[in-house]
Amino acid sequence: MKIAFVGKGGSGKTTLSSLFIRHLATTGAPVVAVDADINQHLGPALGLDEAEAAALPAMGERLPLIKDYLRGSNPRIASTETMIKTTPPGEGSRLLRVREDNPVFDACARPVELEGGAVRLMVTGPFTDADLGVACYHSKTGAVELCLNHLVDGPDEYVVVDMTAGSDSFASGMFTRFDITFLVAEPTRKGVSVYRQYKEYARDFGVTLKVVGNKVQGQDDLDFLRAEVGDDLLMTVGHSNWVRALEKAGRPGSISWRTPTTAP
Ligand SMILES: Nc1ncnc2c1ncn2[C@@H]1O[C@H](COP(=O)(O)OP(=O)(O)O)[C@@H](O)[C@H]1O
Ligand SMILES: [Mg+2]
Repeated sequence: MKIAFVGKGGSGKTTLSSLFIRHLATTGAPVVAVDADINQHLGPALGLDEAEAAALPAMGERLPLIKDYLRGSNPRIASTETMIKTTPPGEGSRLLRVREDNPVFDACARPVELEGGAVRLMVTGPFTDADLGVACYHSKTGAVELCLNHLVDGPDEYVVVDMTAGSDSFASGMFTRFDITFLVAEPTRKGVSVYRQYKEYARDFGVTLKVVGNKVQGQDDLDFLRAEVGDDLLMTVGHSNWVRALEKAGRPGSISWRTPTTAP
C-alpha cells in the first residue's frame, strides 16, 4: 500500500508519518519510508541523530543511476536523458519491490532500526533556496515520482511518503500515485483550508483522501473538524507528551519519563 501524508506546514505530517511508520515496524510489515518534504525531518523523527540524518544519500543526486536501473532494456527509452519523471514503465523496464534488494535501494535507501525491525528510509535530500522554483527542485521530487511509478507493493507492504507542505504537494503528478492520502489538519481555519484545496484535486483525479485531525484537544476541536470535513475525518490525535519528550531527548532510547513532583 502506498500512503502519503500531506497538510499545512507544522500540522504534524512528519510526526504522524513517523509514528505510523513506527507502528508498521512493530507489526513486522516491510516498509519503505520516503522523505519528500522540502524540510527534511523524517530521519530525525525516526530517531536518527543529526550526523546520521545528514549522511543519508540524496535521491535527487542519484537520478542518473535511478533512471538507468529503471529503464532496463526498455527499447522505447533511448537514454537516461530522455527519461522524465512521468515516463511509465514498459516492456524491458525494471520495477522496484518493497522487500527486495536492488541497486536503487543500495544507492538511495538506508535501514533505520525501530522497535520491531528495520525500515528502509529514502530521502529526496535537502533543498536550498537556489533549488526552489527551478529544475533542480523538481529533479529531487522527480526521483521520488519515478520510483513510485516503478514500485510494486504487495499485500501488507507499505510505502509511506512524508510530502511537502500545503499545495506544493500537488504541483506534480505525484499526489495521484497513492492508494490513500492522509491529510493532517489541526482544528483551525488554516488547517482545513489545505483540506479544501486538496479535496478539489482529489475529486478531479480520483484520489482517496482522509483527514487525520492532529493536536485535537477537546470536544470543541472535534466538533469543528467534523463540521468542516464531515465523513472525511478518519481519526484524531491529541497532544502527545511522547512526541514532545522525543523532540527534547533526540532519541527514543533516551526518553526518560518524569512524573510531576511538587517542588521541594
Ligand atoms: N500530536 C502531537 N503532539 C505533540 N506535538 C506534536 C504533535 N504533532 C506535531 N507535534 C509537534 O508540532 C511540530 C510540527 O510537527 P511536524 O510533524 O514537524 O509538522 P510538519 O511535518 O507538518 O511540518 C513539531 O514540533 C512536532 O513535534
Ligand atoms: Mg515535516
